[in-house]
Amino acid sequence: MESKEATISSPSPSRSLSPDPTSSTICCIILMAVDRHRRRWWSEDTVAIVTGANKGIGFAVAKRMAELGVRVILTARDKERGGKAVEALRAQGLHSVVFSCLDVSDPASIKSFTLWFQKTYAVLDILVNNAAVSFNDINENSVEHAEAVMKTNFYGPKLLTEALLPMFCRSTSSVGRILNVSSRLGSLNKLRNPSTKQLLESEGLSERDIEGVVSLFLEDVKSGRWKSQGWPEVWTDYSVSKLALNAYTRVLAKRYEGRGLSVNSFCPGFTQTSMTRCKGDHTADDAASVGARLALLPPKEIPTGKFFWWVSTSSSNVILSKL
Ligand SMILES: NC(=O)c1ccc[n+]([C@@H]2O[C@H](COP(=O)([O-])OP(=O)(O)OC[C@H]3O[C@@H](n4cnc5c(N)ncnc54)[C@H](OP(=O)(O)O)[C@@H]3O)[C@@H](O)[C@H]2O)c1
Repeated sequence: MESKEATISSPSPSRSLSPDPTSSTICCIILMAVDRHRRRWWSEDTVAIVTGANKGIGFAVAKRMAELGVRVILTARDKERGGKAVEALRAQGLHSVVFSCLDVSDPASIKSFTLWFQKTYAVLDILVNNAAVSFNDINENSVEHAEAVMKTNFYGPKLLTEALLPMFCRSTSSVGRILNVSSRLGSLNKLRNPSTKQLLESEGLSERDIEGVVSLFLEDVKSGRWKSQGWPEVWTDYSVSKLALNAYTRVLAKRYEGRGLSVNSFCPGFTQTSMTRCKGDHTADDAASVGARLALLPPKEIPTGKFFWWVSTSSSNVILSKL
């Protein structure tokens, strides 16, 4: 039986495909038909956690992974909404999905979720940090909720990841996987402040540096100077949170280099969800099928420390990545 899976080509000559003129190191993943059975490394004991999975892309990723035979812990901050999402998947015959409550912006919730997960499963194979918020309509740019945005989109995934890291060590895959659902709004070329950009690009970047950048942004918000300090111009607070998440992806990938953990960021593109008020170029199912394929690449093919974005045209289906 044939199915569409992803395979990685070597560093790409297809620079013209990149919508980002500052990209220096680009490789590309071309989605092509391959023999599913030859590439399937996982079993029904393979466990994936997906955050913010009661709707949108998170729900679609949970569904896709369950369809592919992975055991999915579908998490949501609201018990009722999460429970309904699991019921909907079970009604489609996807019985390997389990619900657990998790508010990523709340350290106490992260702690109790992690304790529950450790007691119940102990071993983690895949973490999809998907939950996020934006309080702006498409053409708005208020930073009124900047702290909540940082807590949910950056500090939350980071705290959850750090709490779950020890549980990757007995993964059934020879490579554990963390996929941070991010955005091209958080690309470094959106940053117009040269010293912050230089810091985030530097080889020696540390987690403390990243947190320093986030604190600096929040100080600029508090003092009302944020518009003149070279921060991204579109959805500024959200973009800074994703910039920080992308930087954390790189730092964590480096920390675990050669130790069986792949950490990547993935931008699903402009997708029809409540975050975009249902505007967008494609559905959450489309975006999730690409994200799930990335997270499930065979151990020998899965890269680490990359920022992937999906470029879909009528003739090709390509994922580009930049270090
Ligand atoms: N849609 C796009 O065009 C687009 C583009 C680039 C990147 N992304 C990224 O894709 C991911 C999914 O977004 P989406 O478009 O699917 O948005 P969405 O439909 O608004 O879904 C966001 C999900 O995150 C959950 N969430 C929010 N705060 C949370 C918290 N504190 N704890 C746990 N869950 C929380 C929401 O739960 P509630 O229902 O309880 O609010 C919801 O389930 C996000 O990381 C987003 O930044 C989206």
